[in-house]
Amino acid sequence: MDKRIIIGSDHAAFELKEKIKDQLSDLGYEVEDAGTYTTDSVNYADFGKKVAKAVSGGTYGRGILLCGTGLGMSIQANRYKGVRAALCSDIFSVRMSRRHNDANILVMGGRVVGDILAFELVKEWLDTPFEGGRHLDRIRTLDEIG
Ligand code: RB5
Repeated sequence: MDKRIIIGSDHAAFELKEKIKDQLSDLGYEVEDAGTYTTDSVNYADFGKKVAKAVSGGTYGRGILLCGTGLGMSIQANRYKGVRAALCSDIFSVRMSRRHNDANILVMGGRVVGDILAFELVKEWLDTPFEGGRHLDRIRTLDEIG
């Protein structure tokens, strides 16, 4: 299993990003931090692009994106081919995002979820496999335009 992952956030979720980095390290992951690196106000799209490009291009198989709501990051990330970014704030959605959608970016809102829930969501997302089967054709269809 690929134990490399890229993570990014804006200022609104900077603190949560730092805590999730520690969690990922504890779980044995090698973490690439795409920023932001301070709590100074930034444009979430710049960081969403960095992580989405890395996953779309295959440099990383998995990524995590965080902003205040998670909305801006998920909108940005899903513009990239091959990216399946799932904005989640509950365990069931996280589980299904892996089983059925093979989500390769987990997006969370730092102003929506608390730290402990975020850690549980991350762990479930990392540990849940894609079911494949009938879902393979469905996720391939996602990348077809029109
Ligand atoms: C920043 O204030 C906020 O707009 C951003 O973190 C995010 O929620 C955007 O979708």
